[in-house]
Amino acid sequence: MITKKTRAFLLLAAMMTTFISAWSQDEAEEERVYDFAEENHQCFKCHGHKTFYYFNENMDQQIRERMNPYYIIDTVEYYSSNHWNFSCFDCHSYDYSDFPHPNELRMEPKPGCLDCHGGDDYEDLSWEKIDEEFQKSVHSTKHSADFKCSMCHDPHTYKVNARTNENIKETIQYDNGICLSCHADINKYQLIVDFVNPNVLETHQWLPNQALHWQSVRCIECHVEMNEDMLIAHNVQPKEKAVRKCVECHSENSLLLASLYKYQVKERRNELGFFNAAIMNNSYIIGANRNYYLNMISLILFGMVVLGIGIHATIRIIKK
Ligand code: HEC
Ligand code: HEC
Ligand code: HEC
Ligand code: HEC
Ligand code: HEC
Ligand code: HEC
Ligand code: HEC
Repeated sequence: MITKKTRAFLLLAAMMTTFISAWSQDEAEEERVYDFAEENHQCFKCHGHKTFYYFNENMDQQIRERMNPYYIIDTVEYYSSNHWNFSCFDCHSYDYSDFPHPNELRMEPKPGCLDCHGGDDYEDLSWEKIDEEFQKSVHSTKHSADFKCSMCHDPHTYKVNARTNENIKETIQYDNGICLSCHADINKYQLIVDFVNPNVLETHQWLPNQALHWQSVRCIECHVEMNEDMLIAHNVQPKEKAVRKCVECHSENSLLLASLYKYQVKERRNELGFFNAAIMNNSYIIGANRNYYLNMISLILFGMVVLGIGIHATIRIIKK
């Protein structure tokens, strides 16, 4: 027999189950569903590895061959990039399903970023503006044909960091990695030019404590022309124009506030009276971390000392 008490209990249990299942469904919805994982696997089984297999009909056997290292795509990076839910066929022809790939595919133009993103607005960001700046940069003016956005932003792996990553040090490492992928790698550098890569450690020897600077600022802080309208300015300047003066960063109005910490400055309020609260959260930069109250206290102390000396002197003069 079902008593009132049991009925109440059953009702409660039913409500709980509905609630829990609805809640876990929400959780499941938040997890990414990779719509093209299976489809992409037919490409990744070769392009995701250093070696690949195919059946050679002439020899009537399975052949193991090396993959061109520039044609290897890291599966994990692909599925965490901005384009994580893309099919390879969104950007490449269906005819790549055949192997060997048909010859004429070699002639097929590959899509540029602007082909899809042209006209897009990404919060404060205009893609045309980025392109305009990039066209003025040293890389583009010297090597316009070979140097495309994809030299720095691999369409298969690029992931926005500066505005999504809370961890500034990680962003610095990621962004510097983009530049160092060429400037510290002779092979990739020489995809663009024939001469040998100048050693960045040597060309920056004038900078004290290089290792710490590399971890605390990005290459672009010193090498890119400031642009107030953009979170990431794209006009890489010739070396003569690079920032060299220490006070550009080591001062109260550090340039870092307009570049590296731009996003944080916008997001966070200046709560503690520090002029540079955004910087304070991450590093102690000599000269850049002044505090309004400490400044006032030191001014008052200074005033009192002057006053004390004044009174002391006056009394001594009167006593004479
Ligand atoms: C059996 C292994 C294998 C499979 C499967 C495979 N590829 Fe390839 N792919 C290669 C090899 C080897 C090359 C380099 C030689 C060449 O260009 O044919 C290559 C080259 C390419 C290139 C560069 C072509 C160029 O000249 O710039 C693209 C793009 C490409 N593959 C896309 C794909 C896509 C998309 C898929 C999935 C539909 C795929 N591949 C499946 C082995 C494979
Ligand atoms: C958002 C567009 C996009 C997607 C999605 C995409 N590719 Fe590409 N892919 C490109 C572009 C653009 C290039 C040319 C890059 C360059 O010239 O620097 C390229 C080049 C390649 C190359 C030649 C290597 C190179 O860097 O030139 C291979 C191989 C390749 N893609 C395979 C794939 C495979 C496999 C997938 C799916 C897992 C895929 N791509 C998905 C845009 C894309
Ligand atoms: C085939 C079209 C296509 C090409 C080519 C392409 N993209 Fe995209 N990209 C997209 C689409 C569509 C999205 C939105 C995906 C989403 O919202 O999940 C996107 C998302 C992004 C995002 C994230 C924006 C956001 O709102 O989170 C960035 C950054 C990005 N792409 C950069 C690039 C760069 C850099 C290139 C060139 C190397 C490029 N894309 C090439 C279609 C493309
Ligand atoms: C010399 C290297 C380089 C080249 C070339 C380059 N970029 Fe960038 N770009 C960067 C770096 C570094 C960042 C910062 C990455 C991050 O932290 O998100 C960036 C950031 C971006 C972002 C994200 C900006 C934001 O506000 O979050 C977009 C979008 C972008 N680039 C598009 C492009 C396009 C389009 C081109 C070609 C017209 C291009 N980039 C060429 C280095 C480059
Ligand atoms: C603190 C500012 C600063 C930072 C950070 C910085 N640079 Fe420089 N860089 C300079 C200055 C100044 C020069 C000019 C040196 C000279 O003329 O001898 C220079 C020169 C260069 C040159 C030209 C060297 C040559 O002799 O051809 C390259 C390439 C370069 N930097 C790349 C980078 C890369 C990549 C990073 C990030 C890992 C970086 N820089 C970080 C200030 C900086
Ligand atoms: C795809 C490879 C590649 C990437 C990625 C790259 N560079 Fe370069 N960079 C070059 C090459 C090649 C040159 C030499 C161009 C020349 O003198 O013809 C160069 C030249 C330079 C110079 C020196 C210009 C001069 O006056 O001699 C600076 C500064 C520079 N790059 C900064 C950067 C910064 C900052 C980044 C990252 C945002 C970056 N580069 C990313 C290949 C690259
Ligand atoms: C692009 C901005 C920038 C420039 C230019 C710059 N610095 Fe720095 N400097 C920093 C940052 C950021 C730190 C790291 C603060 C931290 O995280 O502790 C730092 C740290 C230092 C430190 C502290 C090292 C330590 O052991 O704690 C010294 C000393 C220093 N810089 C001296 C200089 C000198 C001298 C120059 C000029 C030749 C210079 N810096 C140029 C940004 C810059």
